[in-house]
Amino acid sequence: MFGLLFFVLMAHTAYGDVSYSFPEEMKRGSVIGNIAKDLGLDVNRLSSRKARIDTEGNRKRYCDINLNTGELTVAERIDREGLCREKLTCYLHFEFVLEYPLELHRVNLQIVDINDNSPVFSKDFVKLDISESADKGARFRVNEARDPDIGQNSVQSYTLQRNDNFVLAVNSETEGVKNIELVLEKELDREREKEVTLILTAVDGGTPPRSGTVAIHVTVLDANDNAPVFSQAVYKVSLPENSPVDTVVLTVSATDADEGQNGYVTYEFGHLTETAKQIFSLDEKTGEIKLVGSVDFEDDVRYEIIVEGKDDYGLSTITKVFIDVTDINDNAPVIVIQSLSSPIPENAFPGTEVGIINVQDRDSENNGQVRCSIQQNVPFKLVPSIKNYYSLVTTGELDRELLSDYNLTITATDEGSPPLSSTKNLHLTVADVNDNPPVFQEHNYRAHVQENNKPGSSICSVSATDPDWRQNGTVVYSLLSSDVNGAPVSSFLSINGDTGVIHAVRSFDYEQLKSFKVLVLARDNGSPPLSSNVSVSVFISDENDNSPQILYPSPEGNSFMTEMVPKAAQAGSLVSKVIAVDADSGQNAWLSYHIIKATDPGLFTIGVHSGEIRTQRDISESDSMKQNLIVSVRDNGQPSLSATCALYLLISDNLAEVPELKDMSHDESSSKLTFYLIIALVSVSTFFLTFIIIILAVRFCRRRKPRLLFDGAVAIPSAYLPPNYAEVEGAGTLRSTYNYDAYLTTGSRTSDFKFVRSYNEGTLTADLTLKKTQSAVDDLEGLDSEMSDSFQVGLRLLFMFFICALC
Ligand SMILES: *[C@@H]1O[C@H](CO)[C@@H](O)[C@H](O)[C@H]1NC(C)=O
Ligand SMILES: *[C@@H]1O[C@H](CO)[C@@H](O)[C@H](O)[C@H]1NC(C)=O
Ligand SMILES: *[C@@H]1O[C@H](CO)[C@@H](O)[C@H](O)[C@H]1NC(C)=O
Repeated sequence: MFGLLFFVLMAHTAYGDVSYSFPEEMKRGSVIGNIAKDLGLDVNRLSSRKARIDTEGNRKRYCDINLNTGELTVAERIDREGLCREKLTCYLHFEFVLEYPLELHRVNLQIVDINDNSPVFSKDFVKLDISESADKGARFRVNEARDPDIGQNSVQSYTLQRNDNFVLAVNSETEGVKNIELVLEKELDREREKEVTLILTAVDGGTPPRSGTVAIHVTVLDANDNAPVFSQAVYKVSLPENSPVDTVVLTVSATDADEGQNGYVTYEFGHLTETAKQIFSLDEKTGEIKLVGSVDFEDDVRYEIIVEGKDDYGLSTITKVFIDVTDINDNAPVIVIQSLSSPIPENAFPGTEVGIINVQDRDSENNGQVRCSIQQNVPFKLVPSIKNYYSLVTTGELDRELLSDYNLTITATDEGSPPLSSTKNLHLTVADVNDNPPVFQEHNYRAHVQENNKPGSSICSVSATDPDWRQNGTVVYSLLSSDVNGAPVSSFLSINGDTGVIHAVRSFDYEQLKSFKVLVLARDNGSPPLSSNVSVSVFISDENDNSPQILYPSPEGNSFMTEMVPKAAQAGSLVSKVIAVDADSGQNAWLSYHIIKATDPGLFTIGVHSGEIRTQRDISESDSMKQNLIVSVRDNGQPSLSATCALYLLISDNLAEVPELKDMSHDESSSKLTFYLIIALVSVSTFFLTFIIIILAVRFCRRRKPRLLFDGAVAIPSAYLPPNYAEVEGAGTLRSTYNYDAYLTTGSRTSDFKFVRSYNEGTLTADLTLKKTQSAVDDLEGLDSEMSDSFQVGLRLLFMFFICALC
């Protein structure tokens, strides 16, 4: 629909006149002519171009147009006499209007007269008083007959009924008035004939001719010499329209030279049209013409009135009165909206035509000159088009988001004085176009999540707004697919398309992922849709979910890591060092070391943060040779987590002094049952015990020196190191200041440290050390299995012995 309306105003339009001549009084529906053909228009487009007949003002529409055929037809009775009275040529003017583009043609329809009226005398009978003394040749005036038809169809001739006394004389005079007179041919004799009646017939020239008659009653009287004489042959006066009733228009006066009754003049109207009879009155005695109705310039511009002045004895004269009605600015302009396209899409170009407006003013001249304007500060203007037509066009860009409707006031003012004006209000709405993308409220979003969160919990929400209308402004959110640590982002987060709330899909682990970034897309539902995106950074914060991990001494199980403490060690000597790490960060990884159990509580201390074990006093002879320490490592998290380890210290200068190493190692791991069984075994058969000790001693002597075990540097297998241990940017407070370096000690009296690089590098010092340690461990395992083998043999023998004893 808009497609049609939004042609940009055409430069101009064809403008042609078309004229038809057509008889009056034709039946409704009679075809006058084919206007479409005559103007060369496409008949099929008439209705889409809204072809119509525009009559000026609010007058009757006499014609219609048949939109299917383009024929102009009669819509109402057309009466030439009613329309044009005595005018010789009678025209009806119309405008033939087409839109898209606006086109205007003037149609002139000449109404041809037909002889549809008969001549009419103003009175049914004429009374003439004629003195018997009247001479032969005396003339007596009779009012002419009127025929509203014109030309040949108007009155052409008069005939008088044959009689003894009178003949008819017809003369044409000025202003088209005919003088019809009875001429006395033979003197009247009152004594012979008191009254004479004559019939006068008027005939028009139509085919067939029509006629009208009047009876003339002649009364024969005594003498009367002079007819009245008007002061002016023709009276002209102008009368403003809308003059009030009782206004004196004009006074005619005639004088009669006779005396007495014979000189007394009375006035009366001659022939008068029906409309004029409603408007004017004539005072019989004074000759004063007064208004009794209202005069409207728009109805009649001029009235022609014939006034007859008559003396008492029938002598009369006529005069003609022309009353010209003058225009008063009494009609305000009328604004007609011919077409209007609302709503207007907001992307309409400046200069787009959105409506056609027509103004009409029935007044004439300046009173009918109209100027049309529109209020300021709106992006619309009126462009004068053909005649009284204006195009309403846009002058700027429209933006529905700023202003979605306009109330336009069109004012039309004429140039009369005082001017009259009228206004018309138009309501125009602007239709939406999807011209705004959604806009996020923030440039980027940051979300902080505690690790170990519940999957499905919401972590933050984004919000974008779009000022467009309905679906053009409805925002839908989605995640732009990307990878986070090699996995699709959808396995980490999900977003509610309507609300923009972002949920975690899984539980996050700070130790694996500290932060990541995703893009969220906001798209509207227009077609085509518009979108924008924003980045959301997710920071995972640490929770204290990892216990400290003790790297040295190796925790539970392999507890053969025994430190030798020289007997001569003095207070403050470094004996060993506990090494632990924590996979958390910050406070959660800040470790402290405490001795929670010791064989001799006063002998050793541990550095709270260094983990270094030192002697607290000099070692004396009375101290037990075997010292056990249980060390607890705690982190600083809330709540804190801890780990414990056991250290075995041997106060000795020589490994050879060490009694049974195995006792120490099995101190706690041997079960009580086994212990009792061994006691039972010893008590029942010392033979067997001796035998076993001999076997053990023999086997033990074949081993390499166990001293080797403690000789080399203690290596930390890389498997102990937590994965991804390196600190990652964005972590907690204690970051690089608290660096876990591994200090490895040989346990010799020299307190000679071997420095191994920090964990980050995770490497060992030398291959040699690793191999040596590895073989030592193997040996220990071998020893262990052989010991249990011997033990089982012993048990089996003991069992057999019991069976024999029972037997
Ligand atoms: C236009 O007029 C209507 C009703 O008179 C009113 O509701 C609307 O707000 C007006 N619009 C503007 C832009 O003034
Ligand atoms: C949305 O915008 C399109 C053009 O982009 C327009 O055709 C449509 O009518 C608009 N929808 C609404 C509900 O205004
Ligand atoms: C995100 O928005 C920027 C501009 O803000 C644009 O250049 C980029 O192409 C968008 N990315 C995607 C994936 O749409």
